[in-house]
Amino acid sequence: MSLLITNIAELRTIDSEDTVLRDAALVVEGERIAWVGAAADAPAADDFVDAGGRTVLPGWVDSHSHMVFAGDRSAEFEARMAGEKYAAGGIRVTTEATRAVGDYDLTRLLLGRRAEAAAGGTTTLETKTGYGLTVDEEARHARLASTIADTVTYLGAHVVPAGWDADEYTRLVTGPMLDAVKPYVEWIDVFCETGAFNREQSLAVLEAGKAAGLGLRVHGNQLGEGPGVRLAVELGAASVDHVNHLSAQDFAALADSWSGYSVSDASTQNSSVVSLRGTVATVLPACDLSTREPLAPARELLDAGVVVAIASNYNPGTSFTSSVNYCVTTAVLQMRLTVAEALRAATHSGAIALGVERETGSIEVGKFADLHVLNAPSVVHLAYRPGMPLTYQTWKRGQMVHG
Ligand code: NIG
Repeated sequence: MSLLITNIAELRTIDSEDTVLRDAALVVEGERIAWVGAAADAPAADDFVDAGGRTVLPGWVDSHSHMVFAGDRSAEFEARMAGEKYAAGGIRVTTEATRAVGDYDLTRLLLGRRAEAAAGGTTTLETKTGYGLTVDEEARHARLASTIADTVTYLGAHVVPAGWDADEYTRLVTGPMLDAVKPYVEWIDVFCETGAFNREQSLAVLEAGKAAGLGLRVHGNQLGEGPGVRLAVELGAASVDHVNHLSAQDFAALADSWSGYSVSDASTQNSSVVSLRGTVATVLPACDLSTREPLAPARELLDAGVVVAIASNYNPGTSFTSSVNYCVTTAVLQMRLTVAEALRAATHSGAIALGVERETGSIEVGKFADLHVLNAPSVVHLAYRPGMPLTYQTWKRGQMVHG
C-alpha cells in the first residue's frame, strides 16, 4: 500500500546537505519512505493526502526523558523560582510517590505521556528508569517503560537512596538490579555529579552495563564541572547529557571524539565509518530554564565540531514538559542556534545519540516514515511564533498517530 503526501509548502529533509524542498511531495510505502521530490514529479500511489501547503520535517527524536513516575513537585519548582537552588534530593520524593502507584495507574500515566509527546511531534522516544531504586521497583519501571518507549535506559544509579552507603548501593546497581532490568533495557546511565555518584562509582556502573551488552549514556556536568563528560568520552558513551558546566578539557574531549567524522557518514552502511561515531552532547534547554542553571553551551559545542542533540528531559523535578517544539524554540532564541542547527539537533543528532540514525531522524528514501507536519508555511515559524500550537500531524512508521 503506497501513500502520496503532496502539496507540501516546505519539506526539510535533514539529510547530509540539509536539503529544503518547496512545493514538494513524498511517497510512503508501508512503514518507510519510498520517494521524495517535487510535487510536480510525484509518482502515482494507491492513496493520497493533501498537506494543504504546510511544512513537513522529520518527527522529533526525544533521546532523554524520565517518564516513569507519579506525583508532582510543583511546590519545589515554585520555591526554586523564589530563589532556592535545585538539588537532586527531590528524586527521592518522586521515588516514594512512584513506589506507591500500581501497574495499572502507572501505565495510564505512561500512555498519557506518550500521547502528549506524539501530539508534540515526537516519533522516537527514549525513557529511563530511576525512580524505583530497589531491585523490584527498577525492574517494574523498566518493564512498564518498555511498553511505551522505543528504547529504555536503566538509571538505577540516579541517586543513592536514603539509608544506603553509596558504594554498597553501587554494588546493588551493578549486580542484582542490573540482572533484573536487563530483559527490558538497551542502555545504562548514571548521574555522575556531586551529591549523586562519583567518578569511581560511575565507572563501575558503566563498566557493568557495558559487560552486560548495554549501550552507555551519562548525566554529566549538570550542576558543576565534574568528571562526567570525560568519563563518557573515555568509555565511548553514545551521549553525555546536560553538559551545563564544561571545562576546556571537556570541550576538547568531546571535540576529539568526533574528529574525522562528517555528517554524511551518519547514513552510511559502512561499519568502519560508524565506528567513528563520538559522544553526542545532549542539551536540555527546558531543564536549564527550570533549574536556572547556565544554559548548556550548545553554540560553542557545535562550533567546536561536536554533534549536539536537543531533548526534552521530561521529568517532574527539572523539566515537566515533553514539548520538543519548546526546546527547539529555546535553543534558537536563547542558545543562539540557527533554525537549521536546532532542527538537526532534535532529529538526526538525537537519532545518532540513540544509535538509530540509519532508520530515522531524516526524511530519506528507505528510512521510517516518521514525520511531523507543521501548520505553517515554513519551519522557521517554530522560533518565529514561539509557543504557538504549530504541530498539525504526527506520523510514526507511516501511520498517523496524532492529527
Ligand atoms: O535529568 N539529573 C538528574 N535527573 C533528572 C532530574 C530528576 C529529578 O529531579 O527528579 C534530570 O534533570
